[in-house]
Amino acid sequence: MNIIISDTEKALDRKAADEIANHIRRHPATVLGLATGGTPVGMYKELIRLHKDSDLDFSRITTFNLDEYIGIDHDHPCSYHAYMDENLFDHVNISKENINIPDGATDSPEKECESFEEKIKEVGGIDVQVLGIGHNGHIGFNEPGTPFESTTSVVELTQSTKEANSRYFDSIDDVPTHAISMGIKTIMHAKKILLIAKGEDKAEIMEKALFGPITPEVPASVLQLHPNVTVFVDKEAGSKF
Ligand code: PGA
Repeated sequence: MNIIISDTEKALDRKAADEIANHIRRHPATVLGLATGGTPVGMYKELIRLHKDSDLDFSRITTFNLDEYIGIDHDHPCSYHAYMDENLFDHVNISKENINIPDGATDSPEKECESFEEKIKEVGGIDVQVLGIGHNGHIGFNEPGTPFESTTSVVELTQSTKEANSRYFDSIDDVPTHAISMGIKTIMHAKKILLIAKGEDKAEIMEKALFGPITPEVPASVLQLHPNVTVFVDKEAGSKF
């Protein structure tokens, strides 16, 4: 595992964005796996800057997002569709038909999971997958206890995840109880993984994930088994290494 500790959040955002930008420059038809949450916002800003200032070209890339809430519409401001439009897609020259985010508003979530997996296979798999990490070690919405063999599926959010994400909603009661999440096995099939964490509050789980026992109780610990992971942390999130 390649671990890169940055002094500042801004430096981390730049390094992570550069890693993706360099990959896109070498392989213009890259298949990117993308994450939401507070952590990657700065990295997306930096990618937008590279698009505007250095002609970074998104026109041939394909994207797959890790997850989406079930039961809220694409247009809901807290949907991950809305997040991705606001934080990246509306500001770069990506082709809308190359964007794949699970449809949480569907009548048949199970079918949606199957077709999401199929689409990933059709394009030959994910080249570079971006991941954040939850305080409980989740990756995507794969909460503690999720089998490492899981593929894209309907998952129930834990109380701690609902609490963490309630900051985006009017109240915790408005946070959806379920989501569609890319599976752990699906994530592990990505050719390269970028794991990003920021802040003191992620230090303990990062230490457990990277150096603790490999166990479904800490979903991110599975990444110790992946051959090509680069970890980007600020010095606070890396303070227990
Ligand atoms: P955060 O979420 O970036 O908002 O901390 C990360 C996650 O839950 O995976």
